[in-house]
Amino acid sequence: MVDLWVSNSADLRAELIVIGLFDGSKAAGSINKELDDAILRKSFSWDFGKHYALKNSFDRSGNKSDNKRTLIISLGKTAEFTSERSRRVMAIIINFMKSEKIKSATVDIALKASSAKNISSRILGRAVAEGAILSDYIFDKYLSEKKDLKDLRISLEYGTDKDFIKGISEGKIIANNTNYAKDLVNEPAVVVTPKYLAQEALKLSKSKNVKVTILDKKSLEEKGLGCILAVSRGSDQNPKLIIIEYTNNSKGEKIALVGKGITFDAGGYDIKPAGQFSDMKCDMSGAAAVIGTIKTAMELDLKVNIIGAIPACENLINGSAIKPGDIIRAYNGKTIEIKNTDAEGRLILADAVSYVEKNYGPNTIIDLATLTGACIVAFGKYTSGIVSNDDALLKELSECGVDSYDRVWSLPFYEEYQDNMDGDITDLRNTSNKPHEREGGAITGGVFISKFIDKAKWAHIDIAGPAFLDEARTYNQKYGSGAGVRLLSYYLIKKIC
Ligand code: BES
Ligand code: MN
Ligand code: ZN
Repeated sequence: MVDLWVSNSADLRAELIVIGLFDGSKAAGSINKELDDAILRKSFSWDFGKHYALKNSFDRSGNKSDNKRTLIISLGKTAEFTSERSRRVMAIIINFMKSEKIKSATVDIALKASSAKNISSRILGRAVAEGAILSDYIFDKYLSEKKDLKDLRISLEYGTDKDFIKGISEGKIIANNTNYAKDLVNEPAVVVTPKYLAQEALKLSKSKNVKVTILDKKSLEEKGLGCILAVSRGSDQNPKLIIIEYTNNSKGEKIALVGKGITFDAGGYDIKPAGQFSDMKCDMSGAAAVIGTIKTAMELDLKVNIIGAIPACENLINGSAIKPGDIIRAYNGKTIEIKNTDAEGRLILADAVSYVEKNYGPNTIIDLATLTGACIVAFGKYTSGIVSNDDALLKELSECGVDSYDRVWSLPFYEEYQDNMDGDITDLRNTSNKPHEREGGAITGGVFISKFIDKAKWAHIDIAGPAFLDEARTYNQKYGSGAGVRLLSYYLIKKIC
């Protein structure tokens, strides 16, 4: 893990000196002749993120120094700088250090960035730490030969600003738990089973604020959670409903975080086409986000109350598996006709949200799920979709999405959609009753879940796009991204400020 600390001045021992320059800064003469020449010859671009490794190395005073390297990074225009840009700059630095096999650096980026308007030093601190720690992640435990340079050290020249230092310590915890969520997603389904998720949750119960309850198959049967039982019938792995209670504010409201924990989604008898489910180990990304967020709350000692709930099972095929046309009864008593066995996420979430609301009485319920391919069609890989019954909650989550860059975009919850999931021989069906079951698919999936909410403020976040990436970008690697951890962590921190 990258070791990151804040200091008053440049770390003279560091092998690499990183200098950030805003467009138009008086670089000429202030750094060294090599850079000045490059700028004059215009081979140095001021576009954000362009960087330039000096052939000769210099210390901060411009004196030549043989055993050091210098990296100049353009921060672009001051007016266009954002906290997200500081994440990306940290990724450039980490990648440069790894490719050049440099283990230590002293960096003045945050100090420079603090001159940009509209960035709070706390959010800046978080972003700087996140950018470094998130880009340092690598899932190489199954590689015989480990290629990555480990244990990097970065000193941030900044000073003693309390808010910035607080942001750095928050960002470290948030990013480490995002990396933890990536691990859970990247591990294959043969490792991450419902039982494995339960064991990960149980590890949290060592803390005095946390109570973990695992409902196994027998208790799910006794209590009548018919949807989770139905989806899991085609699998040899027993289903679980994992409940994590984090209690750290005797007077505060309770927030429920519910994460889809399908540890593998083959589609069931409506099996997915060959080649289109090789990545479906990622279908427990919502669960990973919930556990990662609760770990963050614990490590930051956030004065909030959280009820985490993870319905966990596999969606496979065997002789007992659910069939299209089957009718099942949910925990809240509603009957559902299974029109498509591949629309399983909404079923297990239906039971989980109604169980949590009835038994724990949260004021707010947020569910996270890799729910629909339709949401990827709508937003691609950059944005999660959100459906909510409460405008204030929607606004809060959207703002946290901007600050954390774990972004959400709202989908309509108009009245015309409200009966799209009504059944004809049952109360509900699990795909839309419109001529094309996929039309408005990301919305109708959310509408289905809303039918199981009683009076809580509720938001459904479809992370199908951002949760699992097909290519690396900025500080994200290919595959699991830990989507949702930053969003929910920022949301919880904001609740107490
Ligand atoms: N887990 C999938 C959604 C998904 C697809 C997530 C691709 C990540 C990448 C979900 O269970 C699913 O199969 N949804 C169906 C719903 C449809 C049958 C109404 C879909 O999107 O095709
Ligand atoms: Mn499915
Ligand atoms: Zn699924």
